[in-house]
Amino acid sequence: MANILQLIIDALWFILPAYFANASPVIGTKLLGKYNYPMDFNIKIRGKPLLGPGKTWGGFLTGILVGSAIGFLQARPLAGFLLSLGALIGDAFGSFIKRRIGLERGKSFPLLDQLGFVVFALLFVSFVELPTLPEFAAILILTPAIHLGTNAAAYLLKLKKEWY
Ligand code: CTP
Ligand code: MG
Repeated sequence: MANILQLIIDALWFILPAYFANASPVIGTKLLGKYNYPMDFNIKIRGKPLLGPGKTWGGFLTGILVGSAIGFLQARPLAGFLLSLGALIGDAFGSFIKRRIGLERGKSFPLLDQLGFVVFALLFVSFVELPTLPEFAAILILTPAIHLGTNAAAYLLKLKKEWY
């Protein structure tokens, strides 16, 4: 039991900057208001947005800054930055896929929404740090539930329009 708890704590510690990088844009973009700008510059492919209005430069920079700050506090500055960069790029890549198959901004794509960002974060951070295999498995198993939990909280706080 103590071992499982230790594993969960180690896994969450490893991935924590990516969680903050993924969750903070929704607040950052609100604070910036009209000073924000869409990441895709409103470009469309065959009439469909490249990424859509849910991916903004303000959100991207907020995520990098907040996630990197967490990594800095963990005494893992480079890993924190790479986890954050990977999380934001993975999140944007998810939107790219969703737009290509015709899903509008905010529509759900189960597992891509909850895990895409974390897979990219792990890929990016692997240049400087690797989780153990059990930590890796724990991250993949725990993240969807945690992601749904934080999104539901953001919905209740009226930060998001969708509960998922
Ligand atoms: N957000 C942002 N910039 C980013 C990522 C997120 O401004 N790079 C903000 C947007 O306001 C977005 C919210 O955070 O609506 C929630 O993020 P997410 O659920 O990833 O976006 P969706 O609105 O669901 O859009 P998509 O369908 O493209 O995933
Ligand atoms: Mg969403």
